[in-house]
Amino acid sequence: MNPYIASAVAEMDKINISKLEHPGDEAMDPSSCRFIAAFARALKARKVLEFGSGFTSLLLAREIEPVEDNYLLSIDDSAAFSAQAREAFETSGCRTKAEFRVAPLRPRFYGPRLLLSYSLPKGLLEALGPFDLVLIDTPHHEFGREAVFYDAFRAVAPGGYVVMDDANLPKAEKVCVPNWRAAFGDAVDPILLEGIGEGLSVVEKVDERAPRYTAKGALPAGFKTLGAFGRLLLARD
Ligand SMILES: C[S@@+](CC[C@H](N)C(=O)[O-])C[C@H]1O[C@@H](n2cnc3c(N)ncnc32)[C@H](O)[C@@H]1O
Repeated sequence: MNPYIASAVAEMDKINISKLEHPGDEAMDPSSCRFIAAFARALKARKVLEFGSGFTSLLLAREIEPVEDNYLLSIDDSAAFSAQAREAFETSGCRTKAEFRVAPLRPRFYGPRLLLSYSLPKGLLEALGPFDLVLIDTPHHEFGREAVFYDAFRAVAPGGYVVMDDANLPKAEKVCVPNWRAAFGDAVDPILLEGIGEGLSVVEKVDERAPRYTAKGALPAGFKTLGAFGRLLLARD
């Protein structure tokens, strides 16, 4: 097994998740939180990028605090959730350099695939990276998670990792990893940890590669994206 994953699995039970701090269903499952913290520790991660701000922002910020020149960039489409995560971090006394950004989710073409992705200035993630670890825990709108990987890929250091929560959920999440594999081939090495929380996909970026986005399922993906975008406009702040 991958040594960083093996180390995190062996050590994760030692990570304390305070019942007073963990907000319940709004956050990742406590076991998944334990794994991501232990994994950041095993990697000796210095720069972490997170899509989906919340309890995990504080958890990851604390984990990288001892590492020199640390940096956490946490992105969310909800101003309210971002502000809540920022406040929890700012009142915690944690001294990690952390930045919270709000970016709306918008439809965008990735080759033939119309997907929802965070609207961020071009080149921003690359300029602020390279990141050692990326956590994808975005809202569960169809295909919201697939595009985040494409956006983050160039900002991840070779040998760095992307972890996606809720990997066991049917539909969208199960679609992501095969499509990432189709796009990047053996430049990515995914491992599914089915038994932790709602499942975690841990994907190593093996080396740099230009994506070749698959046309397979692109038409239904486009319709789902437009439907999800419509629901998002009606639902969010
Ligand atoms: C479930 S939150 C988890 C954030 C963080 N990674 C954690 O574990 O604490 C992930 C995403 O869902 C969104 N979200 C959380 N609760 C929500 C709700 N009740 N309605 C709509 N979106 C929600 C947040 O804006 C965030 O982008």
